Amino acid sequence: MHILITGGAGFIGSNLSKALINKAHQITLLDTISPQIHKDGIHSFLVKQLPKEVKLVVGDVCKREDWLKVLPTVDVIVHLAAETGTGQSMYQIEHYSAVNIGGTSLMLDLLTNTTHSVKKVIVASSRAIYGEGTYTNEAGNLVYPAQRNEQDMLKGVFDPIDQDTGKPLQMKLTDETSKIHPTSVYGITKQVQEQLVLTVCGALGIDAIAYRYQNVYGPGQSLTNPYTGILSIFSNLLLNNQAVNIFEDGLESRDFVYIDDVVNATVLGIEHPQPINEAFNIGTGTPTTVMEVAQTLQTLYGTNSPISVTGNFRIGDIRHNAADIRKATEILGYTPKTDFKTGVAAFASWVQEQKPEKSDAFEQSLATMAEKGLLK
Ligand SMILES: NC(=O)c1ccc[n+]([C@@H]2O[C@H](COP(=O)([O-])OP(=O)(O)OC[C@H]3O[C@@H](n4cnc5c(N)ncnc54)[C@H](O)[C@@H]3O)[C@@H](O)[C@H]2O)c1
Repeated sequence: MHILITGGAGFIGSNLSKALINKAHQITLLDTISPQIHKDGIHSFLVKQLPKEVKLVVGDVCKREDWLKVLPTVDVIVHLAAETGTGQSMYQIEHYSAVNIGGTSLMLDLLTNTTHSVKKVIVASSRAIYGEGTYTNEAGNLVYPAQRNEQDMLKGVFDPIDQDTGKPLQMKLTDETSKIHPTSVYGITKQVQEQLVLTVCGALGIDAIAYRYQNVYGPGQSLTNPYTGILSIFSNLLLNNQAVNIFEDGLESRDFVYIDDVVNATVLGIEHPQPINEAFNIGTGTPTTVMEVAQTLQTLYGTNSPISVTGNFRIGDIRHNAADIRKATEILGYTPKTDFKTGVAAFASWVQEQKPEKSDAFEQSLATMAEKGLLK
């Protein structure tokens, strides 16, 4: 198949490209080579390590003429191009909407109004669309908590609480039927992207899949983007003997899913023989706390950089998340194969090979967030 991957020079796209080339697919990438991800432009490590069989078109998903350069002979589109920082999305609202929603709308407009051979579209959605995800209350009923209250968090109460009783709620794995109510602009754009793709492709008779990826990590993730990827951010700090200051109380958790499992899930969708037109969670089903992440990396790097919790918090962040992945297992045959301990060791050894330079980009991003009133 001829597969177009937008944002294909990024973390997920570059790893996906390698897997698809190994399966003898023809691959074209459409990517702006955004400087926030690719510090050295087309000389960045992500671009340099792309297989030579891959055709890279430097272009923008928001530009009609760039789409028209790549669209005509494509069978499958994997639409990954996006702005991806939750915190940054809270003050670059127009830009995030323009790239994520605008780029997707333009793609669908072209699929509707031009001649092409596209039979399937896969769009990268996110767990961010679930906001705080699924909990149960004392009576055992399902609850989908609203965005956490700033006043509670200023008092150090970070876990979502039952608004009726004031008692703590119990986290559950979030399945695809969970309420969709994102707490960030990024999450809203991901919700709209997936709904646009499933709705328009459904109407056009093009198969569509939305992947609600959890926190993807592994070799190849940007080591320079200060807005995404806590494993990268912590690694930069630890390897340069800088202190790691953890938000909230360090017990916030995420479902960290290794890049190879995400690539495998995406390939399963691309090659699935029957039409699907559905959304799937892609994660591991296991939460890991942010403190555990920092401490594991500290041990792997053998550094004495101090780790402390600050009680600070970012507006738009969620407390916990872990996915119920049974739907992807049942329909796509997806099973994650790399546990966090194994994956983080592979990631840490890759980071050490990259020798990341000391940078104040993370501190600058926090200063910007604080200036906008988004870091408390
Ligand atoms: N990595 C994760 O943890 C994660 C989790 C959930 C969802 N996702 C989604 O998966 C997708 C890929 O994520 P990633 O981690 O590979 O991100 P990434 O930042 O590494 O890659 C994104 C790529 O898109 C490109 N890009 C940005 N704007 C563009 C534009 N206007 N036109 C063309 N290309 C553009 C960038 O240059 C970059 O190469 C994104 O849509 C993201 O929202 C990622």
